[in-house]
Parts: sequence; structure tokens; C-alpha cells
Amino acid sequence: MSSVAYPGDLVIGITPFGEPDPRLAAAVSRAGGLGVLDLGTTRRTALDAWERVNDWVADGRYGVRVAAGCPLTPADLRYAAPPDTGPPGGGGGPGPHTVILGAGAPWPLDAVVGRHRVLVEVTDLDQALEAVRAGAHGLIARGSECGGPVGELSTFVLLQRLLADPGVSVPVWACGGIGPRTAAAAVIGGATGVVLDTQLALLAESGLPEDRAALLRPMDGSETTVVDGHRALRPRVRSLYPGPPLTVGQDGFLAARFAARRRDVGRAVRGITDAIRGVVRDASQDAAQAPAFQLPVAQGPMTRVSDQAGFASAVAADGALPFIALALAGREQARTLLEEAAAALTGRPWGVGVLGFAPEEIRSAQLEAVREIRPSHAIIAGGRPSQAAALEQDGITTYLHVPSPGLLRQFLEGGARRFVFEGSECGGHVGPRASFPLWEAQIAVIEDFLDAPAHRADGAGIEVYFAGGVHDERSAAMVAALAAPLTRRGVAAGPLMGTAYLFTEEAVAHGAVQPLFQRQVLAAEHTALLETAPGHATRCVPSPFTESYRALKERLRDEGVPDRELWERLERLNVGRLRIASKGLERGPDGRLTQADEQRQLSDGMFMAGQVAVLRSATTTIAALHHAVGPAAADFLAARAGALSAPLGVAAAPATAP
Ligand SMILES: Cc1cc2nc3c(=O)[nH]c(=O)nc-3n(C[C@H](O)[C@H](O)[C@H](O)COP(=O)(O)O)c2cc1C
Repeated sequence: MSSVAYPGDLVIGITPFGEPDPRLAAAVSRAGGLGVLDLGTTRRTALDAWERVNDWVADGRYGVRVAAGCPLTPADLRYAAPPDTGPPGGGGGPGPHTVILGAGAPWPLDAVVGRHRVLVEVTDLDQALEAVRAGAHGLIARGSECGGPVGELSTFVLLQRLLADPGVSVPVWACGGIGPRTAAAAVIGGATGVVLDTQLALLAESGLPEDRAALLRPMDGSETTVVDGHRALRPRVRSLYPGPPLTVGQDGFLAARFAARRRDVGRAVRGITDAIRGVVRDASQDAAQAPAFQLPVAQGPMTRVSDQAGFASAVAADGALPFIALALAGREQARTLLEEAAAALTGRPWGVGVLGFAPEEIRSAQLEAVREIRPSHAIIAGGRPSQAAALEQDGITTYLHVPSPGLLRQFLEGGARRFVFEGSECGGHVGPRASFPLWEAQIAVIEDFLDAPAHRADGAGIEVYFAGGVHDERSAAMVAALAAPLTRRGVAAGPLMGTAYLFTEEAVAHGAVQPLFQRQVLAAEHTALLETAPGHATRCVPSPFTESYRALKERLRDEGVPDRELWERLERLNVGRLRIASKGLERGPDGRLTQADEQRQLSDGMFMAGQVAVLRSATTTIAALHHAVGPAAADFLAARAGALSAPLGVAAAPATAP
């Protein structure tokens, strides 16, 4: 469901780390957002804090959050006013206006639902449907990048999942990875608003003690880990912070950014609402509707999948940019793949995907073949600016995967201008950040770069592909919305997809994948992450192999096998699995490739795919997919912006003279 709510609902600000901070909550409400006091786990502190917020927010338009260990009961709120979901100042007495129920909240929903607006935090669709059935007035989609209890899906994908489901008939807020750009994306996608928590922690009104502030300030978003379904910052040096793990997510880096840029809560809340309004205004005033993207749609390189000239040709014939994956192909194999593609794609743009981290001799042999056959484009995963520059010198337009803001700063300084930002919801090898926190961080780095006087002109020639969870009009419109601050400044943006192509009829028809591979992704309700070593994880859909992988890993751990040996054994177990799944081929003991029947494909194959597999359950065609993320995304953006412009008080487009 898409919904349009009051401007005061655009930003919910919850006091971070599961603790009551009345000054912070009141400041959010006073700034025009909905301040929410986490009641924490100590009764006296919770009551004191609640009393203060109640005094400071006279119209009662604030909320309380109840999570596991909350010491208060619904009876403690008995003096509260009945729910008034109208605009601020629209009536009602002392609050709380809203009650948020987090994971493990001891309050039954029906104990509060008659007296307050109740929003329930959810991490998957089943929880969402259950909360709606129980009478929740709204949902907060908590993506896996959040601190605290998390599910499998990222904010970007979970939000799409909830908004697309007809059973989710109530407003949805997005939580996790939210900054000004992703806030605009979430609301354009159909969210009623967004949730801030850690982002508020270093602002002037925050009462965060210095020891925790010191942990938060240097974060870049890669430091958190999930243990037993709970994401937190667990400092390696215990003497720095001996307390319990800090409930902070991949968006922890935003606390320092908000503090540096916004300083106080008023400016922070306005920064978010202005960013949302800006995108709505621009998209609704665009008389001759602009295309969603400046770059062609890209089909990302897929090892053992995008290695068929016929498939690449079908992608290119419909106007997109296909990438052939070289993976670990040797000199002759790489040359053959490239020659076949060049013959099938004469005169049309096409690209090659190279792994910058492949063994040196393989990579240099591949690059030799690439320079000789000269595709128009290349993507280097794990590559360096010097590698891109070498290909660019040969006239090959080259993009670098950049998984972190620190690396992006270096790459920009090193002269690189073409990038892929791929969130960890993608299929195949995953990086350390989900799409929302990654995109928010990377866009900020590029904006900072463009602010320098030397780089102001024409977006400095920067081109960006956004990847990880994109597959339809809603997701592509969200990407267009978050890229808008860059594209306004001359940067060219585009969507890059992998998993969505696994659902195309052409992927099977041209032998990119076997029919069973497609059936596996069609049926997927989850994805599985196979982690060999820290930082080396592969996303696939569940299958008998993912089960045996997990069992072996557990057994080796139980047996006390040293880490390095464990990593090697798991790596070895993976070898050849993707080819069994995608091509129905396996290497026999004599080294020759033989056919693997469907039974063997199912039992031994690894079906690499991203979280998009959870979002799609029907096949499509290349043309329909390209239409969805192109013209239909532009329509989606314009329609949603049109619907939001009046409720958000954004000036309508001036009438054009006939
Ligand atoms: C089966 C599969 C294999 C992949 N292999 C590669 C690869 O060899 N090189 C690469 O740069 N990216 C690879 N990727 C990532 C894609 O190029 C693309 O960035 C990613 O699929 C985008 O996210 P999405 O899966 O959510 O669409 C692969 C993805 C899949 C699904």
C-alpha cells in the first residue's frame, strides 16, 4: 500500500540505544516530527522521562516505544488521551499520541490499540500481516541494517515487500539506513515516512554519554555484526567500552554526519523533510516528464550465467547494456567468450565483467583479451582506479565497484569517475553494507566532492550505477528519487540488475540458466548467505546444498577446526556448484565436463541470487523488465510525487501558457 499522511508523520525520531532521552524526544516533536521516547528497562527512569516529555510537548503529539524488558504496563498510560491521528495541534490532550511496539514488547497490542495509535515494528512480511490482523494502525519496516533484533531483508527490500502486498493495508514507515536521500526514496516508494534513531545520537539535544559518543563518531557503517539475530557494535578493544554491545546498525555513521551538517534536532528534521519535499517538488513540476535515468539499464556481469552471446544480444536488442562475466576464465576461454559476444553484438554497446581480485596471471590474461577485442564497456569488481584508467585509455568505458565511502573518496581523488554501488541484498558475492546505508553514504561523498570549486561543472563527468534490490517500477523510482540530488548536478545515474534477469524467459531460452535454476528463484521465499571467511559471503536461494554447507560449517566449528583450514574447506566445497546449477554441467574425476541431470542440479547446485528473488514469483521478459525500470519507473515517480505535493504543501507546477 502507498499512503499519503501528514507532514508531521514524515519523520519519526526514536530515542536511540533503547533508552529514554526526554529532551531529544521533545525536540523531535517540537521540530515538526514525531518524537518517540523509548521507555527503556528501568521503571523510575521511564516514568520520569515520560513525565517530562508530557510536560514539554503540550499537545501530546509524541510517542513512546515499548520493547523487550519495558518496565511499564499499559495501565501506566491510563491518563493518556485517546488516539488523535490528525495533524499536530488538531486536538487531543496529553500524550502519548502513538505507541510503538518493538520486538519482544511485553504489551499485547489489544491493550493499547483502542486508546493510542499503535505502530508495530516488523522485520518480515509474516509479522506485518499478523500485526495488521491484530489491529495495528501502522508498521515500521526495520531492515536488517538496523541495530537490535533483525531479520533477513534490508530496509530497501523489506519496504518493497510490504508495500507491494495487498494484505498490508496500513501505513508503513522505513527504518534503517535513513538519511535525506534514502528518506526521499522511501517516501517516493510508498512509505508514509521514515524513522531516525542513531542518527539523532550526536545532535546538540542528545544526552548520550561521552564514552558511547566516542564509539559512534568514527563509524563508517562497516563495524557492526549480527550475533543470534541481533545487530550491534561490539568493540574489539573491551577497555574502550566495557558496557554491553551498543545497539547500532550500519547507519551508525550517520550520527556524525548529522551532527556535522545539522548540529541540532530542528535542522536535522527539517533536512529530512526538505529533502523529501525537494524530490516531490521537482518530480511533480517536471512538465515534460524526464526519463528516470540518464544511463542505459545495465545487466550486471553474472559468473556462469551471463556468458552466453545470445542472452547478451537479447539484452542489447532491447536497448540495455549487457555485461559478459569472465569470472576466473583462462586466456583461451576468455577470448572465446569475448569473440562470440563481439560477433553477436556488432555495432551495439556491450561490456565485460572482470574480477579485480582474480589471481594476477588470470586477470592479466583476461585484460589482454579485453584490450584486443575491445568491448565498449567494462566493470571491475574489487578493482583500482589505475586498472580502470588503463582500460579507459583503450577507449573502454570502465566502472569500478566501490563498497565503502572511504574507498570512494580515494578513488575520486585518484581520478576514477565511473562507479557501481552494489548493496549487499544483491546476488553473488556481497559487500559489507546494504543498499540504503551504502547509497546514502556514497551520494554524500560525491556531493562533498562536487562542492569543491574545482569539481562543480557538469557533475565532474561522474556516472553511477545503483545495484542491489532493483527489479521493478517501484524500486527503480526509489533509486531515481535518491539519485536526484546528484542528477540535478549533472551526474549520470542508472540501474544495474542481476537477479531480475534470472526471471526472464530469455535467460532460459538462451541457456544462461537451466529451467531448474529459474524454478528455484521463482519459488524462493528467502535467501541464504554462505560465508566462507569474514568478508567473503555469497548470496543464493536455499537448496539442499545450502543446508549441507551449513551443517558442514557447524560440524567443523564443533570439531574445533582452525579458522584458516575451515575457510579453505568451505571454499573448496563451493567450487563448481554454480555451474552445476546454472548450466547443468559438472567436472568429472577425469577433468571433463559432463551433464548433470535435474536431480543432481538440485542436490549439488548452488543457486546464486539476490533478495529480489523474495520479491518476484513470476517469469518476465527482457522487454517487460526494461520497461518497468525505465518508462514505468518514471511514471511511478511522477504519479507518487503528484499525489504527495498537496499533502506536503509543495507548490504545484505553474500553469504553462497555451
Ligand atoms: C548469479 C550471479 C552471479 C554474479 N557474478 C558476478 C560477477 O562475476 N562479477 C560481478 O561483478 N558481479 C556479479 N554479480 C553481481 C551482479 O553483477 C549485480 O551487481 C547484482 O546482481 C545486482 O544486484 P541484484 O542481484 O539485486 O540485481 C553476480 C550476480 C548474480 C545473481
